[in-house]
Amino acid sequence: AYTAEPFVPARGGLAALRRAAAGCRGCPLHRDATQTVFGQGTRDARVMLVGEQPGDQEDRQGRPFVGPAGRLLDRALAEAGIDPAEAYVTNAVKHFKFTRAEPRGRRIHKAPSLREAAACGPWLAAELALVEPELIVVLGATAGKALLGSSFRVGGVRGTLLEREIHGRPERLLPTVHPSSVLRADDREGAFQGLVADLKVAARTLS
Ligand code: URA
Ligand code: SF4
Repeated sequence: AYTAEPFVPARGGLAALRRAAAGCRGCPLHRDATQTVFGQGTRDARVMLVGEQPGDQEDRQGRPFVGPAGRLLDRALAEAGIDPAEAYVTNAVKHFKFTRAEPRGRRIHKAPSLREAAACGPWLAAELALVEPELIVVLGATAGKALLGSSFRVGGVRGTLLEREIHGRPERLLPTVHPSSVLRADDREGAFQGLVADLKVAARTLS
């Protein structure tokens, strides 16, 4: 099976993890992507936000949530009263998966498979063990399946605080939609306000 496990260092902090992740060959996604996009933030962050995978901009810049979805997420966090600078931001999958309609055409985001998300899980587990956030904000179905199992659906649980054992530790989780789904929604303003409402539950949990 694909797995990042042999690449994850047994000791060291976030900097050591990030260096090791740059060389991960745990699944085939490293082959076509530009670079590993590791999590961003400090070890004392109280909240960890988990997205799906880097997009085109993130793949080029090497940082999570710096493209259109990231800008929307920052606005939603600010409106909910969570300082984006105080959050640890990461993804379930650390390499960009894409296809092209034409040989040298635009890179089109492709959802990672459950196998790829499972392969990348040891990085997320290592980030959780070091940061020990008080709350994990689960952004969308891929992050939800990676953390809570393949039967996870956003619809029924969004905006509700869950307490689950994740990688052997008790965690509090707040699932919501992925910011990219807000960008695709017909009623963008309504979808944005829905995301903000869920993030306000997260903000109350942290206050
Ligand atoms: N979407 C994600 O899930 N993560 C990013 O880092 C960017 C877009
Ligand atoms: Fe490793 Fe994850 Fe990249 Fe696959 S997606 S190569 S498991 S860092």
